[in-house]
Amino acid sequence: MKSAIFDLDGVIVDTAKFHYLAWKEIAQKFNYKLTQVQNEKLKGISRKDSLSLLLKWSGNNLSNNEFNNLLADKNDLYLDQIKNLTKKDSLPGINKTLNYLKKAGIKIALGSASKNSKIVLKKLSLINFFDVIIDGNDVLNSKPNPEVFIKGAQALGVPCCDCIVFEDSIAGVKAAKAAMMDAIGICNLKQNLKPTIFNIKSFLAIEPNNLLKYFMKNE
Ligand code: BG6
Ligand code: MG
Repeated sequence: MKSAIFDLDGVIVDTAKFHYLAWKEIAQKFNYKLTQVQNEKLKGISRKDSLSLLLKWSGNNLSNNEFNNLLADKNDLYLDQIKNLTKKDSLPGINKTLNYLKKAGIKIALGSASKNSKIVLKKLSLINFFDVIIDGNDVLNSKPNPEVFIKGAQALGVPCCDCIVFEDSIAGVKAAKAAMMDAIGICNLKQNLKPTIFNIKSFLAIEPNNLLKYFMKNE
């Protein structure tokens, strides 16, 4: 049996929109208008790397102090956005899928760039589904670097090639491939995530028992 590694933002909960709103507000501080297209490139990558990209796009340079202050401001804005998150906010179909995989004996890990992952999972009452949580606090390199997924597999005690990743970002799908893992994309189907298995619009689009065949090992 293979194991499952879930990304968080945009896969389990629609927090991707809150990250976007917070980054837009930060960008406005230096009169820069962050577009939705650019925001796709921020998905899946760390807070620090996101700010570095934003500064590059807008042609700004900051001192270390200013940089760290903006990172803190971004997180304050984000935490304010998610303060009322409850278990009703998990994305459609995710609870049923996690339940089904758990009951089928599949090990489940989180592989997220977010340093807020535990706060979010607790708010959603989903934290107990996860055998392992690897997030932005545990890695040095953000997606598309495969570190977060490789550490997830190690912590689960399974080989990388026996993991299937659920991802909504280009950087995340690349990271899964670099870790030699299969990936299922969760995205607006116009977007081309190029996962190794398939894209679905949401977990409602696939019955959990139809997912099971991908978790059966072919030896
Ligand atoms: C990723 C999100 O999961 O986590 C990014 O896709 C976000 O948008 C990144 O910037 C870091 O999150 P946080 O919560 O540590 O700022
Ligand atoms: Mg994501």
